Amino acid sequence: MAKDTVTVTDNVTGKSIELPIYHGTHGPGAVDIKAFFKEFGYVTFDPGFVSTASCRSSITYIDGDKGELLYRGYPIEQLAGKSSFLEVAYLLMHGELPTEAEQQGFLGNITRHTMINESLNSFYKGFNHDAHPMAIMCGVVGSLSAFYHDSTDIRNPAHREIAAHRLIAKMPTIAAASFKHSIGEPFVYPKNNLSYSGNLLNMMFSVPCEDYVVDPVAERALDMIFILHADHEQNASTSTIRLAGSSAANPFACIASGIAALWGPAHGGANEAVLHMLDEIGDVSNVAKYIAKAKDKDDSFRLMGFGHRIYKNFDPRATLIREMCHEVLAKLGNENDPLFELALKLEAIALEDDYFKERKLYPNVDFYSGIIYKVLGIPTNMFTVMFAIARTVGWVAQWMEMIGDPDQRIARPRQLYQGAAMRDYVEMSKRR
Ligand code: CMC
Repeated sequence: MAKDTVTVTDNVTGKSIELPIYHGTHGPGAVDIKAFFKEFGYVTFDPGFVSTASCRSSITYIDGDKGELLYRGYPIEQLAGKSSFLEVAYLLMHGELPTEAEQQGFLGNITRHTMINESLNSFYKGFNHDAHPMAIMCGVVGSLSAFYHDSTDIRNPAHREIAAHRLIAKMPTIAAASFKHSIGEPFVYPKNNLSYSGNLLNMMFSVPCEDYVVDPVAERALDMIFILHADHEQNASTSTIRLAGSSAANPFACIASGIAALWGPAHGGANEAVLHMLDEIGDVSNVAKYIAKAKDKDDSFRLMGFGHRIYKNFDPRATLIREMCHEVLAKLGNENDPLFELALKLEAIALEDDYFKERKLYPNVDFYSGIIYKVLGIPTNMFTVMFAIARTVGWVAQWMEMIGDPDQRIARPRQLYQGAAMRDYVEMSKRR
C-alpha cells in the first residue's frame, strides 16, 4: 500500500480527500485518482495523456530528460551492441534474458510459424498493385484471426503464447508479401535456416530465377534497427492495442489496430515522412528556408524526425542509429550520399537554433532509420512496415502483460462534454 499521499481540496465545497501515491522502480510517482470521481463528482482532464499513467508495466522504461531507454532494466545501448532481435523479443515477453535452452526453444517456436496459410496469400490479389503496404498490413494481420481459431481464447495462456509466436513469426512474411505484391513479383517462402532479419531480406529481395545471398552488413543493421524499435512503453500504437485488448478482442485484431495507429506521421509514419521531407528540401541550400517554415506557427510544416513527447534530450535510439548509418553507408553505400549530407546539415542547423533548443527538440529514431533502409534498397513506403515488424514484439509483450494484470478492466475514458445542451427536435420546415 502506498505510504505517500497527496491531499486534494475542492475549493467550491471545501471537501478534501487524500489520494495515494505509488512509486515505481524509476521515474515519477503516480497519484491514484480512482476515488476522484466518486468523492468529488469530477473527472480529470488530460488530453494526450500528458500526466496520466494508463497502466502499471514492468517492460520498458524511458527517462526522457537523461535520454535513457531500458528494456526490462537493460540499457538499449547494451542490447543493441550485444544481443539479437529474437533474444530481445524473448526478454521483452518473458522478463529475463533466455538461457541457451530457452533461446533454442524460442527460436524453434518462431521459425515453425513463419509460413502463412496459402489461402491468406490469395488475399493479396484483392489489393491494387499501388496499395500502400501499411494498408495491406492492417487488412492481412487483422484477417489472421479468421485462420487461427485455435489461438484466440485470450483467457488461455497457451493460446496467448501461440498467438504471440505466430504474430512475431508471420509479420516478416506478411510484410515481404506486401512488398512483392506492389512490384508484381512472386511471393518468396520463408527460409527457416536464416536469421529473423536475414529471412526478411531474402523474402523481400530474392527471386525464384536467381541465387540471393543475404548481406551480413544489411542483416546486422536490420537486426539492430529492430532491437531499437522493439518497444517504447505506452506510445500511441501500444496504447491502442491495450485499449482494443481491454475489451477482450482477439490478439490478431488488436495488433491490426496497433498497425493502424502506428501508420500516422506523428508516430511510426514519421520515418517515411522524413524521406519525403528530405526529398522536398532537395538541397543543402534550402535548409534555412525549411527551418524557418518549421518555426512558423502559421505553417503546418514540421521537421519530421524531430521532437518527442518523452525525450527532452537526445533519443538514445537516434544516437545508435546515426552511428549505424555511417557504418552502413561506408560499407554498402556512399558516406557522401547527398541525402545523408542533407540530413546531417539539417540536424546541425536545427540543434543550433534557439527555437529547437528552447523546446528541447532533438532528432528522434525516425530521423536516420529511413536513410539506412534506403541504402538497403527498401522502398520508402515500406519504412513504417519495418517499424511494425519490430514493434510487434513490444505490442504482444504489452498485450500479454495487460491480460495478466489483475487490475485490468475495459478501458473507458471519460470526457468533458462541451456540445449543445439538451434541446428538442426541430421539424425540417422550421430549420434555418
Ligand atoms: N518541428 C517543429 N516544431 C515542433 C516539432 C517539429 N518536429 N515538434 C514539436 N514542435 C514544437 C511544437 O510546435 C510546440 O511548439 P510551441 O510550444 O511553440 O507550441 C512544441 O514544439 C511542443 O510540441 P508538441 O506538439 O506539443 O509536442 P508533442 O509531445 O505533442 O508531440 C511529436 C511530439 C513527436 C508528435 C512532435 O514532436 C512531432 O510532430 N514531431 C515530428 C514527427 C515525428 O518525428 N514523429 C516521430 C516520433 S518518434 C517515433 C515514435 O515514437 O513513433
